[in-house]
Amino acid sequence: MPSKAISAVYLVLWVICCAVESAEDPYMTRALKLMSETPLIDGHNDLPWQLRKQFNNQLNKVDLNTLNTTHTNIPKIKEGRLGAQFWSAYVPCESQYKDAVRQTLEQIDVVHQMCQKYPETFMFATSSQDITKAFSMNKTASLIGVEGGHSIDSSLGTLRTMYQLGVRYLTLTHSCNTPWADNWLVDTGSEPSQHNGLSLFGKQLIVEMNRLGMLIDLAHVTVAVMKQVLDMSKAPVIFSHSSAYTVCPNKRNVPDDILRKVNETGGIVMVNFYNDYVTCSKTAKLSDVADHFDHIKEVAGAGIIGFGGDYDGVTRLPEGLEDVSKVPKLVAELLRRNWTDEEVKDALGNNLLRVLRKTEMVRDSLNGMSPDDLPIPYEEVKNSCRTSYGYPNTDDTSAGSINPLSTLALLLTGTLQALVALSP
Ligand SMILES: *[C@@H]1O[C@H](CO)[C@@H](O)[C@H](O)[C@H]1NC(C)=O
Ligand SMILES: *[C@@H]1O[C@H](CO)[C@@H](O)[C@H](O)[C@H]1NC(C)=O
Ligand SMILES: *[C@@H]1O[C@H](CO)[C@@H](O)[C@H](O)[C@H]1NC(C)=O
Ligand SMILES: *[C@@H]1O[C@H](CO)[C@@H](O)[C@H](O)[C@H]1NC(C)=O
Ligand SMILES: [Zn+2]
Repeated sequence: MPSKAISAVYLVLWVICCAVESAEDPYMTRALKLMSETPLIDGHNDLPWQLRKQFNNQLNKVDLNTLNTTHTNIPKIKEGRLGAQFWSAYVPCESQYKDAVRQTLEQIDVVHQMCQKYPETFMFATSSQDITKAFSMNKTASLIGVEGGHSIDSSLGTLRTMYQLGVRYLTLTHSCNTPWADNWLVDTGSEPSQHNGLSLFGKQLIVEMNRLGMLIDLAHVTVAVMKQVLDMSKAPVIFSHSSAYTVCPNKRNVPDDILRKVNETGGIVMVNFYNDYVTCSKTAKLSDVADHFDHIKEVAGAGIIGFGGDYDGVTRLPEGLEDVSKVPKLVAELLRRNWTDEEVKDALGNNLLRVLRKTEMVRDSLNGMSPDDLPIPYEEVKNSCRTSYGYPNTDDTSAGSINPLSTLALLLTGTLQALVALSP
């Protein structure tokens, strides 16, 4: 080929390439502008669980600037304009009645450690004011949500202590019943109901969470629990990572009548991106997630919508939303679907800020109320790993008081030990 022709080919290629690159998507430009004005607040991210699974929480062995085995790392957070995150302090249901409380404390600790190790990226946050302050400093406000009532081991003292450590929401159950609340699997028919919603202690817990100013998270519970809490809570509720049941009929999602009740009570449903909850199948696209946003808006208004990606807690994510850096593309898609700037800003962060502020106001209005010190009845939590110290009139051998049975057990153990010591 003569060199002139080659130059012409290069010129054409250059024009195609650069014209495409500089033809900015006007929706993306607008999305990024809105995200610079209002923090994107995400309701649920399981990076702390990945830190346990992959590094046994040894943060010294991790560099969040280069970590590439997770949906979340610092460059992706920056690209995704993540303004605030509820980091999940999650431990599996298998730890219930075993070491759930310790494991949960370790997950709380790893979030604190992460904020200390990367102070230029994260600011530990416990209030609506902290979120706006972190945003003005270009940092990701880092809050903690405990995912699953099993993490408090049926103890209001443990709940209060976790609040002191900075925990700002409790998901009432994960995928197992607690001694005081039913989980969503009951609604699938795969598990029996134990409480028809909440037990008496479960209701005590709701009142105590209102008093403390801890958000009540209804992701993962049965519809009966949703209804009971929506009826009795003085503060609005959150669904930290749940989508719309009408769009994908999975029991982890929220039915329309509940969406309407969330609107009436001023709460929020933060949409989950997990393929299985988005399309009820193994595959999904970004536009399928936008369909959930559209549906919730249609049924209950843009005032109850938020983002709850469930990144690093799920294995399958939609095409176009593969990691936390991609969220601005979803925001652009909402604008393409004629969402107004106000509606988008509400979903980005203003709705969650409203819910958190209201919860803080309810707390402040209840500041004359004493902590609830009535423990759960012993019969409701009796198991071989639990002692009954403090409960009067229990005849359990682990109660610490000498009774004939435990005396007999001690004698037998002593005899056995003596025999072992005698043997060669
Ligand atoms: C991921 O990070 C590891 C360790 O830093 C590096 O060896 C590997 O090449 C990276 N993989 C990719 C796909 O970037
Ligand atoms: C935050 O980032 C914006 C845009 O990049 C910049 O204009 C502003 O000065 C930054 N603020 C702080 C406190 O660093
Ligand atoms: C609930 O819906 C009504 C009627 O559409 C609307 O005026 C109100 O702002 C909504 N509330 C919330 C919290 O979005
Ligand atoms: C957005 O609004 C425009 C103008 O009103 C309309 O032509 C278009 O069909 C709408 N798009 C969607 C996705 O609703
Ligand atoms: Zn979950």
